[in-house]
Amino acid sequence: MPEYQENSIIDSIDRLAESFYRLSLRAPRIASAARPGQFVMVSCGPFLDPLLRRPFSIHRCNGSDTLQLLIRVVGRGTELLARCRPGQNLNLIGPLGHGFNPPAAKTPICLIGGGIGIAPLLFWAERLEPPERCTVLLGSRTGEELIQLAAGFRDLGCRVEIATDDGSLGHHGLVTDLLAAHLPATAKAYACGPMPMMAAVAQICRDAKVACEVSLEAHMACGLGACLGCTVHGTGNRYLHVCKNGPVVNAEEVAWQR
Ligand code: FES
Repeated sequence: MPEYQENSIIDSIDRLAESFYRLSLRAPRIASAARPGQFVMVSCGPFLDPLLRRPFSIHRCNGSDTLQLLIRVVGRGTELLARCRPGQNLNLIGPLGHGFNPPAAKTPICLIGGGIGIAPLLFWAERLEPPERCTVLLGSRTGEELIQLAAGFRDLGCRVEIATDDGSLGHHGLVTDLLAAHLPATAKAYACGPMPMMAAVAQICRDAKVACEVSLEAHMACGLGACLGCTVHGTGNRYLHVCKNGPVVNAEEVAWQR
């Protein structure tokens, strides 16, 4: 799969909620090669500090010249990215990793996203023909974080259900509380979010005998398979390197209990 280092140009940066931003970037080589579920490593500024690039799932991509990233401000690197302005350059490496594997044609699909893990699911929903076959379950801390993200899925024709920790929108509780009711009518599930959420999704899907892929989140220093900093335990005493073996893997490949 092709990988590029590209100096992108920021088209726009939109604040979606407190600490949540959507960055639109012009990066034609990466955008034309990107597949849903893949990620990019982003240099957070023109200087050496912070030294390490940050990994971001590709949130949307027009397939020719523009891609979007969803950013939650959690530290110095993401704070610098949130302060960027249109016209600035950001150096990217990508597209990286393995993306989602397609389901059987026309079968019903369930997408489950938690927090910043919602990011790659919109790109995936855009490529699933027809997107109307997708039920999308979104969870987050507050409703404010989900309003614009949910609208993106609804605009495609997906059915959307919401769960929030504070009960400000949709179901008051966990997004996994919503899942079991949908599985009898689901051929395949795709999840991305915090590890405990994905462990619960994997277990619920296993119990219902529904195939499930997860997009793993991990700290990544290189994104290229060199530092081994993104290791998670796999089944059969294997290690999975999220940047190279993933980020998307079959949920049955992960040793969730370790
Ligand atoms: Fe360095 Fe995966 S991030 S090996």
